[in-house]
Amino acid sequence: MKRLWLGFAAVMILSFMVLGWIGTRIYQEMPPIPDKYVTSDGVTLIDSGEVGEGQNVWQSLGGMQVGSIWGHGSYVAPDWTADWLHREAIFILDKWATAEFSKPYEDLGEEYQGQLVGRLSKLMHTNTFDESTGVVTIDPIRAEAFDSNVEHYETVFIDGNADYAIPANTISSKERVRKFSAFVFWTSWAASTTRPNDIASYTNNWPHEPLVGNRPTGDNIVWTGVSVIMLLAGISGMAWWYASRREEEEKPEGIASHDPLARWQATPSQKATVKYFWVVAALIFAQMSLGIVTAHYGVEGEGFYGFPLAEYLPYSVSRTWHVQIGLFWIATAWLAAGLFIGPLVSNHEPKFQRLGVNVLFGALLLVVVGSLAGEWLSVKHFMSDTVSFYLGHQGYEYVELGRVWQLGLMVGLLLWLVLMLRVLWPALRGMTSSSLGEERVERTGSAGTPLSGSPSLATIDSSGGKVNLVEADSQRHLVILLAVATGAIALFYGAGLTWGQHSHLTMVEYWRWWVVHLWVEGFFEVFATTVIAFVFMRLGLVRPGLAAAAALLSATIFLSGGIIGTLHHLYFSGTPTVALAWGSVFSALEVVPLTLIGFDAMEDLRRSKASPWVQRYKWPIYFFVSVAFWNMIGAGLFGFMINPPIALYYMQGLNTTPLHGHAALFGVYGMLGIGLMLMCLRVLIPGRPWKDGMLAFGFWGMNVGLMAMCVLSLLPVGLLQTKASVETGYWFARSSEFMQTDLMQTLRWMRVPGDTIFFFGAVALVWFVFGLWTGHSFSKKTDGFDPPEQDGANKFDEQTETEKRESVLA
Ligand code: HEM
Ligand SMILES: [Fe+2]
Repeated sequence: MKRLWLGFAAVMILSFMVLGWIGTRIYQEMPPIPDKYVTSDGVTLIDSGEVGEGQNVWQSLGGMQVGSIWGHGSYVAPDWTADWLHREAIFILDKWATAEFSKPYEDLGEEYQGQLVGRLSKLMHTNTFDESTGVVTIDPIRAEAFDSNVEHYETVFIDGNADYAIPANTISSKERVRKFSAFVFWTSWAASTTRPNDIASYTNNWPHEPLVGNRPTGDNIVWTGVSVIMLLAGISGMAWWYASRREEEEKPEGIASHDPLARWQATPSQKATVKYFWVVAALIFAQMSLGIVTAHYGVEGEGFYGFPLAEYLPYSVSRTWHVQIGLFWIATAWLAAGLFIGPLVSNHEPKFQRLGVNVLFGALLLVVVGSLAGEWLSVKHFMSDTVSFYLGHQGYEYVELGRVWQLGLMVGLLLWLVLMLRVLWPALRGMTSSSLGEERVERTGSAGTPLSGSPSLATIDSSGGKVNLVEADSQRHLVILLAVATGAIALFYGAGLTWGQHSHLTMVEYWRWWVVHLWVEGFFEVFATTVIAFVFMRLGLVRPGLAAAAALLSATIFLSGGIIGTLHHLYFSGTPTVALAWGSVFSALEVVPLTLIGFDAMEDLRRSKASPWVQRYKWPIYFFVSVAFWNMIGAGLFGFMINPPIALYYMQGLNTTPLHGHAALFGVYGMLGIGLMLMCLRVLIPGRPWKDGMLAFGFWGMNVGLMAMCVLSLLPVGLLQTKASVETGYWFARSSEFMQTDLMQTLRWMRVPGDTIFFFGAVALVWFVFGLWTGHSFSKKTDGFDPPEQDGANKFDEQTETEKRESVLA
């Protein structure tokens, strides 16, 4: 175990050193924000501070929730960077063509078109930024193009545009449209202007735009190759390792004849977590409903089957809420699961723990309600840009909530961390391996409430027998890993507080992905592995030694790719090539463990059949198996599909991204949240067995619906868009010209079947969970799996089953 821990620490330290070093390179080499843009005949086009003010306008209207910038954001409206670049290019080409050939660019012969395109590429790529004055000098024709684009954006944002799901008055005045345009112009200037001492633009030539000579760079192709080979190397190595270990693997020993948790009596703090789960169920329902609305805006931009919904709930708000509520319910389920599992780990209930759990609950509700309201108020122009940053909508996807709410969430996560550490403490420190057994019993006796009679971790081994010191020590390793993951989840949210209202977009992106990526592709994976291992161990279905070593090893493998892999979100965000190189290679390594995850999943499935009583936990275990399945498909396959630099160059922000986003985020962490919720509720509200039907429908409905949504709609739409992006240009793949063609319309409507099945699956689940509250989800018969009374019984026995359920629900 020591070697494993050393490996884990080494990976963490080295990876963060690299990520930090590349962060400083990004900071030094990001595109400058010029003080002014001035034409060569002396007219100031964009004045001091206007780009930054424009960025704030963009943020307050929903930012990345309305179209995208540098490929990051939502998909119904265009990518503004690419859209601007293309409109500017066409304007200038037409101007030149009319002046020199008396016809529009489109009607010219190829030879003449080529001539103009060559000239335009030179014009756009030449870097005229003067570092000493901060001024960029541009050709007057670009200023004319600017005005023409502003006029177009006035129609889009003031009059509204149904194809983009942008309602009228999305930006409140012409003056603000102009500022917004200054910001977009700057992003497209960075996308086409060559970086000093380089041959590619600040965004590594993203987006693909043949008219201005934006094509993939040599580095892009080379690192694509390297990353694919690295993936193959990783998989080969891992398969080799598996093969070499097969002989050594411990044979599973006889498992407990009774459910070790059947007689667990919920502690006061555990009982207090039950309301979290009712909130989770309610939020799931809200999120799915908003998802339906948001998806519908993709085909009917102004409303919902004729009802003018956009007036009250514009796309930018419905999508923001859809994303935010998704994160909230997943987080709530996990927080609650952590709090619930704590006493199961340590067999310890610290003083005032219940109070802490209740305070955290109140804080979470406040953040959820406050932030969602703030987002709506901001988009509906009830806030100035500055107020909006603090209380409204930050405009950055996944961290949209205003700064104050963000701080609130951070405080909540820290509170969670404290609560978790308090309860895990005896399990964390009481065991310097040899002194484990008796000493710990004593300490719990004096420090907090000992949970007399209930089986403690130290006393559970696979045969339900006596204390096993070696195994107890292994359990401690798992507890430490759980504490590390918990701590990292709480602390890494802090990276989201590093930027301010006026920060450079490139740096915001860098830190934003510290939060989002390091969570989902780093510490969440660790948390997930540890928690699931813990559940199986606590049920006596897996040996602690094996569980701890396996969890630690897989955490190390994940993080060795995952931390530096953060940079795969930063290939084209104003970052130098070094981000692309390291990002592509290390993120490819993330996929390695996912390709072999089937081994674990099948193991879990076997466990669910290990003994008749395990049937009780069938559905939580099924959800855990689907976590593995979607980790392989959603994260592994769909993630790697867009991951190599050449793929993402064309595909960033096409429907291939929500394909991956849904399959991975819901498939992995949503399913995990649901599995954990069911697991906790099963232990928390014991007594009669569950009625299966509704839950079965929920499980299969969500899985089949998600798959149908992916393969019937998102995947084909994404692939056809990719073809358009390669053949014509990125802007075209996102344009309404392309997306409104009959074929694409049909394919987008094909989301309806999958989404509907999915929705009804979710409704069934929610109905089932509420049935645990009202009682309608319990079966009348008993399952006969309860252990005989003397087996680890505690106060539980004094209550009848009904009383017990009622005491939890009270
Ligand atoms: C369970 C793990 C994962 C989750 C929950 C997850 C989730 C997400 C989400 C929500 C997005 C953002 C989509 C958007 O911009 O709207 C994203 C983007 C992305 N993910 Fe993952 N992901 C996971 C694993 C992976 C893996 C293993 C890879 C590949 C090695 C990967 C590669 C990418 C890439 C390249 C993007 C950028 C796409 C774009 O900007 O258009 N992800 N992921
Ligand atoms: Fe990522």
